[in-house]
Amino acid sequence: MLAFATALFGSACHHEETPAPTASTSAASTAKTAPTFTRTTADEMQLQWDLGKMPIPSDNPQSDPKIELGHELFFDKRLSADRSLSCYSCHQNEDGNGGHAPIATGANGKKLTRHSPVMWNVGYLPKLYWDGRVDSLEAQAAAALEGSTMGLGTGKLTDKAAEIAKIPGYQQAFKAAFPGEGITAKTLVQAIASYERTLVCNDTRYDQYAQGNKSALTDQEKHGLEVFTGKAYCIMCHTPPFFSLGYLGAGAFFDVGIGTEGKEEKDVDVGRMAVTQKEGDWAAFKPPSLRNVSKSAPYFHDGSRATLEAAVRFMAGGGAKNKNLTPIIADKKLTDEEVTQIVAFLGALDCQRTLEPPKKLP
Ligand code: HEC
Ligand code: HEC
Repeated sequence: MLAFATALFGSACHHEETPAPTASTSAASTAKTAPTFTRTTADEMQLQWDLGKMPIPSDNPQSDPKIELGHELFFDKRLSADRSLSCYSCHQNEDGNGGHAPIATGANGKKLTRHSPVMWNVGYLPKLYWDGRVDSLEAQAAAALEGSTMGLGTGKLTDKAAEIAKIPGYQQAFKAAFPGEGITAKTLVQAIASYERTLVCNDTRYDQYAQGNKSALTDQEKHGLEVFTGKAYCIMCHTPPFFSLGYLGAGAFFDVGIGTEGKEEKDVDVGRMAVTQKEGDWAAFKPPSLRNVSKSAPYFHDGSRATLEAAVRFMAGGGAKNKNLTPIIADKKLTDEEVTQIVAFLGALDCQRTLEPPKKLP
């Protein structure tokens, strides 16, 4: 047991030591019979905080002109089909950089199927989207632009690039960012991805605490951390330093029952199964990072919970029964006080930065 706790909280940058999701069932049941683990006080814990080096694709190295250009594009509504939405429209500061509506509405008023996730640390994600169907930020930006989100239509990103190429300010900016390459579908999404890779959240009060500032958390938050890592075992899936297993190794997906409640099987969003075609991935979704979570209501892939307390109660209470529910999510029988403590602790994961709009658009 001790070895397991060390694997989760021990030396930073050893992500490969984190147990794979398949090992999680036995790990979770061990925890229940190991009271010594839950007795560790927050101040004694060795906590992971180092996010490590962000992987940068070799064909799209970071550069200042590229990041600046991507910043402008991310905030530019002219990128959507009807010029009504920028990327930022659904990933705003007011919503913790996630979405405002439970389910997002794309360009031309097209209703999408899921809630907009938080943008912090997306550059570290091995697999993007709630179902992990895309594995690079470049591919994600292209999918958002050509799909219902920005509404351009399949194969139409090239036309949009040609439209953008008529704007003199962008001609200059692309020249500086991609000398000799021009304004193309490829350079457009590369610039957006480079900007997104600057959206790092590693400066929460939790991070200060993990680095030794023992007064960075209140007593209530410390108790919350103890419940989060001990009795409630949230760390199994919301693993530090990202507070999600989805950032480690090849990613991770679980069916906790969200989106299955009161629905016939045929009406359920099958999540990860649509990508892998495996029955075991039915209704499985990526555990979101909990960084900035106190600010990013509503919650879950269907935006079905309006408050953080409701989301925590759902997660701690055993999820929603269905044919594929992960056994790790058994009812942890928390007291009201313990729920309140976890909610308080999650407030210590607030990111200190916000996304600032560019000074002006070209
Ligand atoms: C209409 C609202 C909307 C707009 C506009 C929008 N997004 Fe999103 N975004 C979403 C939703 C909803 C999802 C989740 C979809 C899913 O998982 O199936 C998402 C997911 C993402 C993700 C994946 C994050 C993760 O945790 O896996 C990234 C990155 C992202 N969007 C970036 C962008 C970029 C770049 C643009 C502009 C090109 C953009 N978004 C425009 C709603 C929006
Ligand atoms: C079996 C793995 C697992 C465990 C254990 C787990 N979670 Fe989750 N959590 C998930 C998954 C998967 C989702 C996304 C579910 C969805 O939307 O379909 C999620 C979503 C959440 C969300 C919503 C975040 C957002 O941005 O929408 C919160 C809050 C949360 N979990 C907190 C907790 C807490 C607190 C605990 C401990 C009581 C916990 N979780 C235990 C897997 C887990």
